[in-house]
Amino acid sequence: MKVPFVDLKAQYLAIKDELDAAILKVVSETAFVSGRYAAAFEDSFSQYLGAENCVAVGNGTDALEIALQALGVGPGDEVIVPANTFIATAEGVSNIGALPVFVDIDPATYNIDPAKIEEKITPRTRAIIAVHLYGLPADMDAIMAIARKHGLKVLEDCAQAHGATYKGQKIGTFGDVATFSFYPSKNLGALGDAGAIVTNDKDVADKARLIANHGQISKNRHTIIGRNSRMDGIQAAVLSVKLGHLDAWLENRRSHAEAYKELLSDAGIVTPDEPENVRHVYHLYVVQVEDRDAILGKLGDAGIECGVHYPTALPFMEAYAQLAHKPEEFPVAYAQMGRLLSLPMYAELTSEMIEYVAAALKNAAPRSIAAKE
Ligand SMILES: Cc1ncc(COP(=O)(O)O)c(C=O)c1O
Repeated sequence: MKVPFVDLKAQYLAIKDELDAAILKVVSETAFVSGRYAAAFEDSFSQYLGAENCVAVGNGTDALEIALQALGVGPGDEVIVPANTFIATAEGVSNIGALPVFVDIDPATYNIDPAKIEEKITPRTRAIIAVHLYGLPADMDAIMAIARKHGLKVLEDCAQAHGATYKGQKIGTFGDVATFSFYPSKNLGALGDAGAIVTNDKDVADKARLIANHGQISKNRHTIIGRNSRMDGIQAAVLSVKLGHLDAWLENRRSHAEAYKELLSDAGIVTPDEPENVRHVYHLYVVQVEDRDAILGKLGDAGIECGVHYPTALPFMEAYAQLAHKPEEFPVAYAQMGRLLSLPMYAELTSEMIEYVAAALKNAAPRSIAAKE
C-alpha cells in the first residue's frame, strides 16, 4: 500500500464539479484580482469565524507582515515568537525591520509556553505572536493576560488551525488581529497562494487593506506607500466553495486522529493531546519517537510518506545564526527537534491506510520510549 503525506488530488476529485464551475465563472466574468469574489469570501470567512472584518491578501506570510504593520509594529521593535513554528512567522517580523524574540514551547502542546514569555519582554517589545501550531489552539487566556498586563498587541497566526476552537470560540477572534494561510495543503487550501487578515478592530482592518492595495484610499489617491498583496478572484471563489466543506473535513481529521491514538496507545509513542475546552483540527498529526530518522526511512520503505515539522527550531536556523542562540535557551524545542514525526493526515485517509500506518510505525519503533519532557 502507498500512503502519501497529503493527497490534494483526492480532495479535488471529491468536489471537482463545484470547483470547475466556480473557476469558469470567475474566468468568464474576468473578475481576476480582488473584486466581488474576494469580497464574498471575506464576508463568508468572517461569518464562519465570528469575526467582524476580513481582508483577503496574497498569502499567509504577507498577511503576517501587513497585520504587524497595521498594528503599528515597525523597525527596532521586538516581537515575541514561539521557538517552534514555520519560518514564515518569524519572517513576517524580520521583513518589517523588527526583531523576533523567541520563547520556548510547552512540551505537551508544542505551542508557546506562556510561563516563559514575561522574562523575554523588554521596553522594545510591541507584540506577541501566538501560533496555533499543528491545529491546536495556543493558551489564549494566559497569553492575553500577559499582553494586557504589559500593554502588548497579540497576533494569532492561524495558518494551521482554520476552524479550531478555544473554550467554544473560533481561534482568530481572541487577539488584536489574526492571520491565515490558504496554501493548498492547509486545512482550508486554495489552488495556489492566498491568505487573510482577520480582526474585530475596524481601524486595523482599514489600515491592512490600505497597505495591501498600494496605499490607495480612493482611485488614484495613495495616502501611504503600500504594496501589492491581494487575493485573486479564482482563489477566492475556490475558497468559498471549500469553506462549505471545511467542517466535514475537520470532523474527518478528528476521527482519523482518534483512530491513530487508539492504535498507537500501547506503543510507547507520544501522541497529541487535546486539552480540555479546546478543539484540535489536526492540520498535522505529530508524534514523538526515539530514533526518528531511522523510523522515517523504514516508513518510507513501507510506502508511507511522513514529514517533520520542524527539523530545526527557529532559534537554530541558519537564517537566524546572527542571534547566536544556544540549545540551553530553548531546551524543549531543542530536545523535540530530533523526535518529531508527522504522520499522513488529511480528510480522505481511509481506515485501512490509518491501520497500515500505525502497524508500520509500531513495527519500525518497537522499543520507542519517547516521553514528554
Ligand atoms: C504557522 C505558519 N505561519 C505562516 C505560514 C505562511 O503562509 P504562506 O505559505 O501562505 O505564506 C505558514 C504556512 O506556510 C505556517 O504554517
